[in-house]
Amino acid sequence: MDLSQLEQVEHDALAAVGSASAEDELRELEVRFLGKKGSITSLTRSISELPKDQRGAFGKATNILKRAIVDAIEARRTQLVEGNVSAELEDMTFDVTLPGTVATAGTMHPLTQVQEQVEEIFSAMGYYVLDYPEVEDDFHNFEALNIPSDHPARDMQDTFWLKSGHLLRTHTSPGQIRAMGEFEAPFRAIFPGKVFRYEAVDASHEHTFHQVEGLMIDREVSVAHLISSMTIMLSEIFGREVTVRLRPGYFPFVEPGFELDMSCQICSGSGCKVCKQSGWLEFLGCGLVHPNVLRHAGLDPNEWQGWAFGMGLSRLVMMQYGIDDIRHIMGGDIRFLRQFG
Ligand code: FA5
Repeated sequence: MDLSQLEQVEHDALAAVGSASAEDELRELEVRFLGKKGSITSLTRSISELPKDQRGAFGKATNILKRAIVDAIEARRTQLVEGNVSAELEDMTFDVTLPGTVATAGTMHPLTQVQEQVEEIFSAMGYYVLDYPEVEDDFHNFEALNIPSDHPARDMQDTFWLKSGHLLRTHTSPGQIRAMGEFEAPFRAIFPGKVFRYEAVDASHEHTFHQVEGLMIDREVSVAHLISSMTIMLSEIFGREVTVRLRPGYFPFVEPGFELDMSCQICSGSGCKVCKQSGWLEFLGCGLVHPNVLRHAGLDPNEWQGWAFGMGLSRLVMMQYGIDDIRHIMGGDIRFLRQFG
């Protein structure tokens, strides 16, 4: 073994690296010359077989050669990569000005948007915004609201019962009992949420829909204050005066009770399938809290009074955007939802 062998390896390696035309080829050369069984490694191993006085010079020359091969491979790799990039740039079919893939952002659901609007309006008037369970018990959904088990009013809201004896709340009114138990009177609060009814679906009725309940408890409350609060809310939401009408309405948990209708904003009152050709849309139920309900919640009806309302949020969305079928709202069609960005 002598230095001429090193020269031979150097010659072979540099020639092979210089003519390599792809990165894969360079990787193979790395293995061939620098790998565990490569030429440089076996040259290094053979140093110990040399006479002692030659080992130093041979070892140094082997290291220099190894460095030269490593550098040559690295330099060739850079050349090849740069060559590929410029080839891509020169390729007339590769348009560097094309925009990249745009990440699409979601939008707030229209129900969420209108719910936030309602929450803002009432928060500004000093109302708490509360959240109560969707799975309720008979006591809160019916009994405490003055609807005992044999009461015909139970048929007004067909119920999804659970095997446990619980139920999916049929309205947000159970929140009245929970709020009165939770807060010291006087207080005012709204509680938005999803409600469920086992009923036939049509253009203005869903089995799962959203309501917002409102409750005001004070020593003296009046129907006049209730009506003015509803009118303020609607005018703020629609940004103009909205015509409403009151009808007597029967709800066992209020006395007197009313139905508040708003003029149909889709047909401007001329009649359409949403308002069933009447020009009016049933929008909310309301009234003065029944003394039995106050008692159930632990308040003395001789000291405290209250008014309450429960409105359909989906119907508000329909009126706001001129949507003529409630089934679009929770239908989950992305093309429909994209319009509310
Ligand atoms: C109630 O749910 C009462 N808890 C409201 C109430 C609260 C009255 C407090 C008095 C005091 P009602 O079933 O009418 O009432 O529903 C209230 C509103 O929810 C309706 O005016 C309507 O806007 C909406 N709504 C009722 N049923 C449906 C349905 N199937 N699909 C969509 N919205 C509905």
